[in-house]
Amino acid sequence: MYAAAPRPHEQVGGIFANLINGVVNVSISGSKRNRNCESEVAGKEGLPSRRSFLRIAAAIGAVGAWGRAADRPPAKWKERRELFPEGVASGDPDHHSVILWTRLGDPKISKLYVEVAEDEHFTHIVSSASTPVSAAADWTCRVLVGGLKPAHVYSFRFMTPDGSGSRVGRTITAPDPGDSRAVRFAFVSCQNANQGAQNAYRRMIYEDERAPENERLGFVLHLGDFIYELVWYPEDRKTYYDRRIRDIVRYAHGEKIDDFHIPTTLDDYRAVYKAYLHDPDLQDARARWPFVPMWDNHEFSWQGFQGMQRFSGKVRPAQTRKVFANQAFFEFQPARMARPSSKSLETFDPPAVKDTPVTKFDQHGLGEEPNNLAAINSLRGYRTLRWGKHVDLIITDQRSYASDYRGNLPQSDPLDIPEFPGLYPEEDLYALDAGQPIADFKEAAPPWTFLGATQKAWFLDQLRASRATWKIWGNTVATLEMRADPQNLPEGITKKWRGAGYAAFAGIDFGNAFSERGEICDFIEQHGITGFAVLSGDRHSFWAGLEATALPPKEFKPVGLAFVTGSISAPGGLEAREHTFPKNHPLHALFVPGFNLLLKHGVRSCLEYARSGDVAKARELSNPDLAPHVSFVDMGGHGYGVVRAASDSLETEFVGIPRPLERSERPDGGPITYRVRSRANLWAKGERPKLKLEVIEGDPKLSI
Ligand SMILES: [Fe+2]
Repeated sequence: MYAAAPRPHEQVGGIFANLINGVVNVSISGSKRNRNCESEVAGKEGLPSRRSFLRIAAAIGAVGAWGRAADRPPAKWKERRELFPEGVASGDPDHHSVILWTRLGDPKISKLYVEVAEDEHFTHIVSSASTPVSAAADWTCRVLVGGLKPAHVYSFRFMTPDGSGSRVGRTITAPDPGDSRAVRFAFVSCQNANQGAQNAYRRMIYEDERAPENERLGFVLHLGDFIYELVWYPEDRKTYYDRRIRDIVRYAHGEKIDDFHIPTTLDDYRAVYKAYLHDPDLQDARARWPFVPMWDNHEFSWQGFQGMQRFSGKVRPAQTRKVFANQAFFEFQPARMARPSSKSLETFDPPAVKDTPVTKFDQHGLGEEPNNLAAINSLRGYRTLRWGKHVDLIITDQRSYASDYRGNLPQSDPLDIPEFPGLYPEEDLYALDAGQPIADFKEAAPPWTFLGATQKAWFLDQLRASRATWKIWGNTVATLEMRADPQNLPEGITKKWRGAGYAAFAGIDFGNAFSERGEICDFIEQHGITGFAVLSGDRHSFWAGLEATALPPKEFKPVGLAFVTGSISAPGGLEAREHTFPKNHPLHALFVPGFNLLLKHGVRSCLEYARSGDVAKARELSNPDLAPHVSFVDMGGHGYGVVRAASDSLETEFVGIPRPLERSERPDGGPITYRVRSRANLWAKGERPKLKLEVIEGDPKLSI
């Protein structure tokens, strides 16, 4: 099955922590979770005391700022952006604090100052602090500013002791947990600065600047592939499809594999973050909103899992690289993530690990080798953040604790059906996922897991304990099953489909993790949890639908909503097929012009569309049992999603943009192709969620 795996660019499937959660959840009265921590950190009015706050800052590797420090910044200030070439950023706000970030580009000093103000002219400064900078953190710094007002917009800036300043950043605190106003935020993933432009951010900024104040975004949820660690150099490859290869980064110690390069040292990983942050649209976005980041696969390694990499079908130990990846993430993406190995305010202090083969796995597929465990535990990414009354954002890590997918192993090769590229009988993928003996697998194995046992128990606990209207799962990997109905192909087009019924697309994709999704859906059903919604990226395509494990002919019982955002710029599955799928292939009509129809309506619609070019006629032949869980799919879509979570409904807007081959010089980032809105009313316990789709502008063509 490995041979059918996607190519790198179209990848679809690439302590103090309790204190942190204690603060996040501090005002959820009656919650049993973190009870001890709550009493420890809560001061008056549900906020931490200054002392507790400083301990919390230390736990995430940030200097704590609370009010105006005695060590005052210089009175004179002059903007000198060139000294801070990666700009400024903020991250993971709660209702009284937020982390501020910058990097000093010309390291001649060991201290920076930061100021936070009510206004962009800094006439009402509310907080200031000094923070050390050093080579140990590549001159990056993190300051957790506390004592701020909830749901409030602040300006911030960094400066050197002689008053040379960064650009001015803007950040926003979360609303108070009792605040009943709607929460609006964007979610994004998969920006590839080596192969495309970040026009989607420009569009997002343009629209937000013009929106009424109460309709502006509160934050940007970044669901991973913030960087692509695979880099092509122009001398190795000038173009990718219709895309120009940009010469954005050179790895000092890179390893060349095929025609691309991968990082091998901490400085290599740092170099790719710096290169990406020189993109003006990405940098402006980070200066405008707090980001809430989570890594996906490419922050570490394309086909990596735990502390291992896979290239050319072979797994190799890569614990040192996993730690480098985590350290670079910590340094460049401000987030409330625990680092068990460090007590430093400003440096990561990596655990010492060696690349050591991982040969023993526990009953959940977790490699027990000590370096593997040390590497994956060096930065704990999963966490819950709260926005007002309506949003608990529960973010999980799909790469550090995941077991290896058996579809990657050569024993699965007999499942391949060359006539149906990428398609497998659903029952085969069920068996593969469940660990049953199949193909050349003679022994049973544990079911596939993305989350791992410990994180999954934590996740389910968070879901059950949440009192927010909407329990939003920030899961970098898409969950909606991708399937097709080749059993309905007319005879004679190609070989007869050998499956018992439907086909699923292979891939390291949560859609194929049937057992784990089933476990989660059953848990939600059993505990009567409502308001569950999944937000994902990774698939490089827009999807809106309903979360359910079983599809017809089994009983379809949705328990929540699910949305996948198109990539910011990385090429998607339709683009890849347009360039690589043979034009004379008997199934060309299914996989290229009709790909979106194939996933939502089925083969008969594709064939009709190929014959007549008439979309309405094609939809008349829709197979209603194929995808009752999908209301929108665009395998060629780029752009971003916007969520509005209110007391009675959740709306998700997809803003589609043209393929971002080059940077738009327009202030709005270029035209949009469509804007579609999905709306679900909050459902009561025992009811099923329903999604209603509305096209607001543009033409989503075959996506509906
Ligand atoms: Fe991606």
